[in-house]
Amino acid sequence: MAKAKTLPTHVAVVMDGNGRWASKRLLPRTVGHRQGAKASRKIIEACLKKNIKYLTLFAFSSENWKRPQEEVRTLMELFLSSLENDAETLYQQGIKVRFIGGRTQFSAQLCELIEKTERLTEGNDRMLLSIAIDYSGRWDLMQASKQLCKQAHLLNLNVDELDEAALEKYLSTYPLPDPDLFIRTGGEQRISNFLIWQLAYTELYFSDTLWPDFDAKDLELALASYTIRKRRYGLVPEQIET
Ligand code: IPE
Ligand code: IPE
Ligand code: MG
Repeated sequence: MAKAKTLPTHVAVVMDGNGRWASKRLLPRTVGHRQGAKASRKIIEACLKKNIKYLTLFAFSSENWKRPQEEVRTLMELFLSSLENDAETLYQQGIKVRFIGGRTQFSAQLCELIEKTERLTEGNDRMLLSIAIDYSGRWDLMQASKQLCKQAHLLNLNVDELDEAALEKYLSTYPLPDPDLFIRTGGEQRISNFLIWQLAYTELYFSDTLWPDFDAKDLELALASYTIRKRRYGLVPEQIET
């Protein structure tokens, strides 16, 4: 039987549980988000140490815009200050950063900082860190489909000849391989509109730990769980062995 013996190449994380972490301590949810940002930094470092090549973090979903204005404002400020403080460190660590999701709703200042960080880290290749902000899996499929339709029209392509690879080229994660391991913290067992196309054959791991408490040891548990998974992709075990 084929085991996922090695470590995952691509890890995707839904960093959930900041609000509950704060509420448990009778603190405002925003404090939980600040603490969550610290956890993100530590997990990025832990993944670097593990030589994880691709790390994709879900930081803010398109649905999260509908949260109370005050919380959204704090989150945007937090993205801004995190980028201001951490861009240089990420660069020094050899990390290439890119942002996936819509860009039309951010302040000009945040947009500039996002572009500046992407430009600064462009030449790095130790790890590709994708940060999903204003991201939704359905949005990604829609924008990719629209681009593909336009291209097909422009080049007079035969629609019946289009295949999955043709669409994948326009997904915001391209050219990354699909995630091998999906981690969601905070106890909920759902995808919440994250990488719906890309997760088709990803191994799912759910942790009850709230994101601000998720540390290198919790990551180890997730990775250990991955290494004993048997990935079959619809085949029978004998086929996988050969
Ligand atoms: C995840 O934590 C961070 C974002 C969605 C921005 P939550 O804020 O969803 O925390 P819980 O799930 O309410 O505890
Ligand atoms: C998913 O968490 C989005 C992020 C972690 C950024 P949510 O807290 O928004 O998801 P639901 O509402 O529990 O499905
Ligand atoms: Mg949540």
